[in-house]
Amino acid sequence: MNLKDHIREVPDYPKPGILFYDISTLLAHAEAWHETIERLAVVIEKEKPDVLAGIESRGFLLAAPLAMRLGMGFMMIRKKGKLPGKTIPFTYDLEYGTDTIEIQEDAIKPGQRVVMLDDLLATGGTMEAAVALMQQAGADVRRIACIIELNFLKGREKLGGLPVTSLIQYDD
Ligand code: PRP
Ligand code: MG
Repeated sequence: MNLKDHIREVPDYPKPGILFYDISTLLAHAEAWHETIERLAVVIEKEKPDVLAGIESRGFLLAAPLAMRLGMGFMMIRKKGKLPGKTIPFTYDLEYGTDTIEIQEDAIKPGQRVVMLDDLLATGGTMEAAVALMQQAGADVRRIACIIELNFLKGREKLGGLPVTSLIQYDD
Protein backbone atom coordinates (compact mmCIF):
# COMPACT_ATOMS: atom_id res chain seq x y z
CA MET A 1 0.00 0.00 0.00
CA ASN A 2 1.31 3.46 -0.90
CA LEU A 3 0.47 5.57 2.15
CA LYS A 4 1.33 8.77 0.27
CA ASP A 5 -1.80 8.23 -1.83
CA HIS A 6 -3.82 8.84 1.34
CA ILE A 7 -2.30 12.22 2.19
CA ARG A 8 -4.34 15.17 0.95
CA GLU A 9 -2.33 18.08 -0.42
CA VAL A 10 -3.95 21.42 0.38
CA PRO A 11 -2.40 24.41 -1.44
CA ASP A 12 -2.06 27.83 0.19
CA TYR A 13 -2.73 26.62 3.75
CA PRO A 14 -2.18 28.03 6.34
CA LYS A 15 -0.61 30.80 4.23
CA PRO A 16 -0.34 31.55 0.51
CA GLY A 17 2.49 29.55 -1.05
CA ILE A 18 2.47 26.77 1.59
CA LEU A 19 1.41 23.27 0.52
CA PHE A 20 -0.16 21.56 3.55
CA TYR A 21 0.06 17.77 3.88
CA ASP A 22 -3.20 16.77 5.53
CA ILE A 23 -3.39 13.44 7.39
CA SER A 24 -7.20 13.64 7.83
CA THR A 25 -7.69 11.49 4.73
CA LEU A 26 -5.24 8.90 6.07
CA LEU A 27 -7.04 8.79 9.43
CA ALA A 28 -10.38 8.38 7.67
CA HIS A 29 -9.26 5.34 5.69
CA ALA A 30 -9.43 2.30 7.96
CA GLU A 31 -6.93 0.13 6.08
CA ALA A 32 -4.40 2.89 5.47
CA TRP A 33 -4.54 4.01 9.10
CA HIS A 34 -4.15 0.43 10.30
CA GLU A 35 -1.17 0.00 7.99
CA THR A 36 0.36 3.25 9.32
CA ILE A 37 0.16 2.06 12.92
CA GLU A 38 1.44 -1.43 12.07
CA ARG A 39 4.47 -0.11 10.17
CA LEU A 40 5.42 2.17 13.03
CA ALA A 41 4.79 -0.57 15.59
CA VAL A 42 7.35 -2.87 13.92
CA VAL A 43 10.09 -0.23 14.19
CA ILE A 44 9.19 1.01 17.66
CA GLU A 45 8.89 -2.43 19.23
CA LYS A 46 12.58 -3.11 18.45
CA GLU A 47 13.60 -0.23 20.72
CA LYS A 48 11.94 -1.93 23.70
CA PRO A 49 10.61 1.38 25.00
CA ASP A 50 9.25 1.76 28.51
CA VAL A 51 6.96 4.54 27.40
CA LEU A 52 5.88 6.38 24.24
CA ALA A 53 5.78 10.19 24.20
CA GLY A 54 3.27 11.98 21.99
CA ILE A 55 3.52 15.68 21.15
CA GLU A 56 0.30 17.72 21.35
CA SER A 57 -1.84 17.49 19.45
CA ARG A 58 -1.39 15.39 16.36
CA GLY A 59 1.34 13.30 18.01
CA PHE A 60 -1.34 11.95 20.37
CA LEU A 61 -3.10 10.38 17.38
CA LEU A 62 -0.10 8.09 16.99
CA ALA A 63 1.14 7.59 20.53
CA ALA A 64 -2.20 6.40 21.92
CA PRO A 65 -2.94 3.55 19.47
CA LEU A 66 0.72 2.52 19.34
CA ALA A 67 0.95 2.29 23.13
CA MET A 68 -2.14 0.12 23.18
CA ARG A 69 -0.89 -2.01 20.30
CA LEU A 70 2.51 -2.55 21.99
CA GLY A 71 1.18 -2.98 25.51
CA MET A 72 2.81 0.03 27.13
CA GLY A 73 1.87 3.41 28.51
CA PHE A 74 2.13 6.74 26.79
CA MET A 75 2.69 10.24 28.05
CA MET A 76 1.66 13.65 26.80
CA ILE A 77 4.01 16.46 25.91
CA ARG A 78 1.67 19.45 26.02
CA LYS A 79 1.60 23.11 25.23
CA LYS A 80 1.98 25.31 28.29
CA GLY A 81 -0.74 25.44 30.94
CA LYS A 82 -2.66 22.30 30.00
CA LEU A 83 -1.27 19.82 32.54
CA PRO A 84 -2.26 19.75 36.23
CA GLY A 85 0.20 19.45 39.11
CA LYS A 86 3.94 20.00 38.98
CA THR A 87 5.36 20.25 35.49
CA ILE A 88 8.73 20.59 33.79
CA PRO A 89 8.57 23.35 31.15
CA PHE A 90 10.85 23.91 28.18
CA THR A 91 10.87 27.17 26.21
CA TYR A 92 12.21 27.30 22.67
CA ASP A 93 12.60 29.90 19.94
CA LEU A 94 10.23 30.26 17.01
CA GLU A 95 10.69 32.42 13.93
CA TYR A 96 8.91 35.20 15.84
CA GLY A 97 8.90 34.85 19.63
CA THR A 98 9.01 31.72 21.76
CA ASP A 99 6.84 28.75 22.68
CA THR A 100 6.72 26.53 25.77
CA ILE A 101 5.95 22.84 26.09
CA GLU A 102 5.80 20.81 29.27
CA ILE A 103 5.43 17.41 30.85
CA GLN A 104 4.25 16.33 34.27
CA GLU A 105 7.09 15.96 36.73
CA ASP A 106 6.33 12.30 37.44
CA ALA A 107 5.71 11.32 33.80
CA ILE A 108 9.18 9.90 33.32
CA LYS A 109 11.71 8.19 35.55
CA PRO A 110 15.41 8.74 34.88
CA GLY A 111 16.79 6.15 32.48
CA GLN A 112 13.44 5.11 31.01
CA ARG A 113 13.58 4.26 27.32
CA VAL A 114 11.35 6.52 25.26
CA VAL A 115 10.25 6.70 21.62
CA MET A 116 8.97 10.12 20.53
CA LEU A 117 5.95 10.45 18.24
CA ASP A 118 4.57 13.21 16.09
CA ASP A 119 2.68 13.25 12.81
CA LEU A 120 5.10 15.46 10.91
CA LEU A 121 8.76 16.45 10.99
CA ALA A 122 9.07 19.79 9.22
CA THR A 123 11.74 22.25 10.47
CA GLY A 124 12.29 19.93 13.44
CA GLY A 125 11.89 22.77 15.93
CA THR A 126 9.03 21.10 17.79
CA MET A 127 10.75 17.73 18.00
CA GLU A 128 14.09 19.26 18.96
CA ALA A 129 12.42 20.97 21.92
CA ALA A 130 10.49 17.84 22.90
CA VAL A 131 13.65 15.73 22.86
CA ALA A 132 15.52 18.32 24.92
CA LEU A 133 12.70 18.39 27.47
CA MET A 134 12.60 14.62 27.76
CA GLN A 135 16.37 14.38 28.10
CA GLN A 136 16.33 17.09 30.75
CA ALA A 137 13.85 14.93 32.67
CA GLY A 138 16.30 12.01 32.44
CA ALA A 139 14.71 10.05 29.60
CA ASP A 140 16.78 7.78 27.40
CA VAL A 141 15.37 8.85 24.03
CA ARG A 142 15.85 5.92 21.65
CA ARG A 143 14.10 6.99 18.45
CA ILE A 144 11.86 9.54 16.80
CA ALA A 145 8.98 8.29 14.68
CA CYS A 146 6.53 10.18 12.51
CA ILE A 147 4.29 9.71 9.51
CA ILE A 148 5.61 12.48 7.27
CA GLU A 149 9.06 14.03 6.91
CA LEU A 150 9.69 17.13 4.80
CA ASN A 151 13.25 16.29 3.75
CA PHE A 152 13.89 19.71 2.23
CA LEU A 153 13.53 21.41 5.62
CA LYS A 154 16.29 19.22 7.09
CA GLY A 155 14.57 18.82 10.47
CA ARG A 156 16.47 15.60 11.05
CA GLU A 157 19.72 17.57 11.31
CA LYS A 158 18.46 19.28 14.47
CA LEU A 159 17.96 16.01 16.30
CA GLY A 160 21.50 15.26 17.41
CA GLY A 161 21.90 12.13 15.32
CA LEU A 162 19.00 10.30 16.99
CA PRO A 163 17.46 7.67 14.71
CA VAL A 164 14.41 8.98 12.86
CA THR A 165 11.74 6.86 11.22
CA SER A 166 9.32 8.45 8.75
CA LEU A 167 6.88 6.52 6.57
CA ILE A 168 6.35 9.18 3.90
CA GLN A 169 8.89 11.70 2.62
CA TYR A 170 8.62 14.78 0.43
CA ASP A 171 11.69 16.17 -1.30
CA ASP A 172 10.33 19.55 -2.34
C1 PRP B 1 2.69 20.71 13.50
C2 PRP B 1 2.97 19.24 13.37
C3 PRP B 1 4.24 19.05 14.16
C4 PRP B 1 4.97 20.37 13.93
C5 PRP B 1 6.03 20.20 12.88
O1 PRP B 1 2.05 20.94 14.75
O2 PRP B 1 1.90 18.46 13.93
O3 PRP B 1 3.96 18.92 15.55
O4 PRP B 1 3.97 21.32 13.49
O5 PRP B 1 6.68 21.42 12.61
P1 PRP B 1 8.20 21.70 12.90
O6 PRP B 1 8.98 20.44 12.59
O7 PRP B 1 8.54 22.80 11.94
O8 PRP B 1 8.33 22.11 14.33
P2 PRP B 1 1.26 22.26 15.12
O9 PRP B 1 2.15 23.11 15.94
O10 PRP B 1 0.70 22.84 13.86
O11 PRP B 1 0.09 21.81 16.06
P3 PRP B 1 -0.94 20.58 16.14
O12 PRP B 1 -0.19 19.29 16.16
O13 PRP B 1 -1.61 20.84 17.45
O14 PRP B 1 -1.89 20.65 14.96
MG1 MG C 1 1.87 19.10 16.00
